[in-house]
Amino acid sequence: MSHSVYRIVRLAHEHLPGAAALEQLCFPAEPWSERALDILCREHGIGYAALDEGGVVLAYGGMTYAADEGSITNIATHPSARRQGLGRAVVQALIRQGEALGLTDIYLEVRLSNAPAIALYEALGFTAIGTRKNFYRHPTEDALLMKVMLPTDTP
Ligand SMILES: CC(C)(COP(=O)(O)OP(=O)(O)OC[C@H]1O[C@@H](n2cnc3c(N)ncnc32)[C@H](O)[C@@H]1OP(=O)(O)O)[C@@H](O)C(=O)NCCC(=O)NCCS
Repeated sequence: MSHSVYRIVRLAHEHLPGAAALEQLCFPAEPWSERALDILCREHGIGYAALDEGGVVLAYGGMTYAADEGSITNIATHPSARRQGLGRAVVQALIRQGEALGLTDIYLEVRLSNAPAIALYEALGFTAIGTRKNFYRHPTEDALLMKVMLPTDTP
């Protein structure tokens, strides 16, 4: 299935059922519920969704932020829509919005075995800065902690 036509929109309440369905599909052991995802639509939360022509959520991602630091909480692309640039477009939108908000750094955790996600983040400028022991459950696994520094106006 090809989804070459898509648009990136700011995540809104109307997209949460679609995003929650992607959570069930991509993270069956510990999916975020619609209610949990609501944090991305509130103050200090940002989300973007990639929609197909019919408004179906093909990919989405979210970040929370405090002071000048952002933290990416979720990124997922529907299995039938992977390797078409949707994940990249969603993370780029989060980075751009982080810049607009004046954030200096964005952090994230990713399973050490998650090569596709690590490749995506590295392609967008994130670098590994450490690990968190036994950070994940089902199955238990260490997290790689990654960070990207955003350009700031100050010299
Ligand atoms: C990780 C994930 C979000 C990537 O989404 P995607 O929409 O397929 O990614 P894109 O098509 O935008 O890929 C952008 C780049 O990331 C890298 N990449 C993505 N998937 C890859 C894979 N399977 N193998 C190697 N590199 C990969 C490549 O550099 C790719 O660029 P290219 O296609 O020009 O080579 C997707 O695989 C996914 O939903 N996985 C399950 C959920 C998950 O693990 N989320 C992250 C939790 S931290």
